[in-house]
Amino acid sequence: MSELSVNHLLGIKYITERDIQLIFETADHFKEVINRPIKKVPSLRDITIANLFFENSTRTRLSFELAEKRLSADVINFSAASSSVKKGETLIDTVNNILSMKVDMVVMRHPNPGAGVFLSKHIDASIVNAGDGAHEHPTQALLDCYSIREKLGDVAGKNVVIVGDILHSRVALSNIFALQKLGADVKVCGPRTLIPKHIEKLGVSVETNLMKALEWCDVANMLRVQNERMDISYFPTTREYTQQFGLNKAKLESLDKEIVVMHPGPINRGVEITSDVADSGQAIILDQVQNGVAIRMAVLYLLASKIERDEG
Ligand code: NCD
Repeated sequence: MSELSVNHLLGIKYITERDIQLIFETADHFKEVINRPIKKVPSLRDITIANLFFENSTRTRLSFELAEKRLSADVINFSAASSSVKKGETLIDTVNNILSMKVDMVVMRHPNPGAGVFLSKHIDASIVNAGDGAHEHPTQALLDCYSIREKLGDVAGKNVVIVGDILHSRVALSNIFALQKLGADVKVCGPRTLIPKHIEKLGVSVETNLMKALEWCDVANMLRVQNERMDISYFPTTREYTQQFGLNKAKLESLDKEIVVMHPGPINRGVEITSDVADSGQAIILDQVQNGVAIRMAVLYLLASKIERDEG
């Protein structure tokens, strides 16, 4: 039996292509399970998982919780407003308190980049990064690539453009790493102010003209403009942003091919994507959400099987 090369999922940067393929194969199995009348399996019956959310989340938290429950794990939840948490000291204290209740795995979202890596050096439990600041969001990238594979057969050889607020997006960085490991060609597109300097060093190309990027791609992943992470103004007005970088039906229909449209959610309808596009047959946004549960079941299952093996 294959196993993951890591004991934690801290970022796509730290895993191999083989790990990703193993997660996908395992998710295929769990996808079949969650479409059965009885959606639950006993795989994690002896495992206790703590979901620690130091930053707001709706769909990621629900998706992890559902994945854990479908695997029959015992689950405890902790949420804290980001403002009440200081980097370092309180994080270790909080987590150690929770671990003393015999928790095996921690799923953590935290506003500080590197919070998961930091924690993994100080505690015994297996850690899954559910988003660390603007750094990584590995399960989102896995479910995005899995959804592309499901829709187009394979990720290798596909042209994928990530559009919008690349600068503040952990989804963008994790997607870049995952797509490249799986053999896709990646472009980023958005206003210059929202594209990190030197991003080309990651092997992606930059395009500031949305129509050119759309003509090139097989898949467009439309990111949310993350106003809550912006301390200055990065573009003149939302209306201008939408005109230049928003996706609408007219832009899609002017292409001579049908591209796949993705969005990690939550959507700002009418800003980065219009409702008629978000709700169209070209968009796989709800498939992404559905696949998120199977992917998270796969990640938790594969990491948990390493815990048991290490102890034996
Ligand atoms: C993303 C996130 O939180 O990083 N959303 C998510 O996980 N569903 C993207 C976003 O907030 O725009």
